[in-house]
Amino acid sequence: MSKALDASEDRQVTRDGQRPRHLVRTLLHSLREYKRETWLTPLFVMVESILEILIPTVMAQMIDQGVSGGSMPAIWKFGTILLGCAIVSLFAGFMSGRYAAIASSGFAKNLRHDLFEKVQSFSFTNIDRFSTGSIITRLTTDVTNVQFAFQLIIRVAVRAPMMVIVAWIFSFRISHSISMVFLVIIPILGVGLTALSLSVHPIFEKVFHTYDHLNNIVDENLQGIRVVKSYNREEHESRKFGAVSQRIYDYFCRAEHVIAFNWPILNTCIYGAMLIISWMGTKQIVGSHNNPALGLTTGDLTALVTYAMQILMALNMVSMIIVMVVISRADAERICQILNEVSTVRDNGHPIADVPDGSISFKDVTFRYSEGSEKPVLDDINLDIAAGKTIGIVGGTGSSKSSLVQLIPRLYDVSSGSLEVGGHDVRDYDLVALRDAVAMVLQKNVLFTGTIAENIRWGNPDASDEDVRRVCRLAQADGFIQEFPKGYDTYIEEGGSNVSGGQRQRLCIARALLKKPKILILDDSTSAVDTKTDQLIRSAFATEIPDTTKIIIAQRLASVQESDEIVVLDEGRILDHGTHEQLLRTCGEYRSIYESQTKSQGKGDDDDE
Ligand SMILES: Nc1ncnc2c1ncn2[C@@H]1O[C@H](COP(=O)(O)OP(=O)(O)OP(=O)(O)O)[C@@H](O)[C@H]1O
Ligand SMILES: [Mg+2]
Repeated sequence: MSKALDASEDRQVTRDGQRPRHLVRTLLHSLREYKRETWLTPLFVMVESILEILIPTVMAQMIDQGVSGGSMPAIWKFGTILLGCAIVSLFAGFMSGRYAAIASSGFAKNLRHDLFEKVQSFSFTNIDRFSTGSIITRLTTDVTNVQFAFQLIIRVAVRAPMMVIVAWIFSFRISHSISMVFLVIIPILGVGLTALSLSVHPIFEKVFHTYDHLNNIVDENLQGIRVVKSYNREEHESRKFGAVSQRIYDYFCRAEHVIAFNWPILNTCIYGAMLIISWMGTKQIVGSHNNPALGLTTGDLTALVTYAMQILMALNMVSMIIVMVVISRADAERICQILNEVSTVRDNGHPIADVPDGSISFKDVTFRYSEGSEKPVLDDINLDIAAGKTIGIVGGTGSSKSSLVQLIPRLYDVSSGSLEVGGHDVRDYDLVALRDAVAMVLQKNVLFTGTIAENIRWGNPDASDEDVRRVCRLAQADGFIQEFPKGYDTYIEEGGSNVSGGQRQRLCIARALLKKPKILILDDSTSAVDTKTDQLIRSAFATEIPDTTKIIIAQRLASVQESDEIVVLDEGRILDHGTHEQLLRTCGEYRSIYESQTKSQGKGDDDDE
């Protein structure tokens, strides 16, 4: 699993996030085929809103001319117009809802797809920067929040301001003085709701970081569930989970406490506006009996009250959008961090498409996992390996054996110096071509859910059954596979949990062999295999793939003893290299490893007797 950014560092990255304009531009890339629906939504919303605004005016006419004026034909006329408006408005509402749903779910689908693609293109260095949990949160919760915000924006962002402006113009036409009430109330409400939303933002930022943490805990727990059980750590794990879960609850409660002020503020404004409008309106109606110039009718007052409701509800919608945008801004920043992350391993302009042979040459190579670290993990590495040779690498734990070989298929790039494969710098190759030529069985190898045959075919999807069987025989895996009731169709559970460690290692070697690589790297890949089988695998290599350069990292010297050359690493430097016999003579470190292993072997043999 990748190393997690610690929480504070992660927050730092978010704070340093991009400006909103860049955020929006990056996100809108994922709209693609859903642009049409995205435009149609506000269009239908506009039709719906215009009709909704017209309805109170028509209603006012019906009351004044029909009800108050006692004219049945007027009631019919305006009634029919009202019905027509209502039907078209309903239809437009339905269509806008439908398009909004298609646009926003399509957008979310594309966004997830783009995020996933991006993660696939990450180099190991990129992967090290994000924790698994945080990538999961970004792909799930963050995208869902952005999806909701997007849906709300395309539906309401047009509707609400339009409602406010048009309803105000209509109310202005009815009564100049009463319409001024809105000009006072709208800013008060606007300022109140915006202040509220902004004070909630930091709380939501914290919520998402805590989500990352929660997902990390779940991920780690599930991956290591067997270890958890064997150490009886279930309760500890539950407590750890419970604490983080409680933190999310607390943050949400705090956010809701703030958001709860939304309604009182809104209601105060609504009822305040109603009171003032009713007071001014009735005064004007009563006054119009004495002074018809004031000219306000009962119908007008009804319309004004409806407009007041519409304006204030629209403002409430704006406040909801602000809350949603504030929440989803944190999500959007986190999504864009991944989308804008530049893979540290990239092809240059004209990559070489073919690896000529399996020769390898390290020239003054130094390597650091992160640029900031002081001491390099690999230092002053100079090493030439001819094609077809077998090279053993030994050294204590943490002596950078894995780090050294990970540079060959460009899982990481060298920090300085150069690394050549087949006579060209690895950075000049097409990455796919390079990785096809270099098969690596990682120290932490994994199998994927699927049958054994499917897993082996990762090395070459077009391989025939015979090819699959041949590489399994080479890796000494055919025997145990045949013993499974379903043979090559045996289903491998997640992570390869239903095969033994040694079996898993052999399947991983077979998978690598199927690539017919020019370079084969085994990083401690036979550690769980018994000595005899290990020996069989190595002799099969020698006879069956003589032209492939073989690099074998092993703790057991017996696994590398017959190599053409053995490299002894110590604290990231090459201590010595040569054949087994040469090293026994020249390298004290090698000799002491050899002696300790042969002694313990001898002791083991004695014990057996
Ligand atoms: N992804 C990583 N990020 C940062 N440091 C790392 C990373 N992987 C390894 N290191 C560090 O690099 C050093 C060398 O590790 P490496 O895995 O290459 O050793 P190794 O010789 O393969 O050890 P082992 O025999 O235990 O497999 C160690 O100090 C380790 O902490
Ligand atoms: Mg290692």
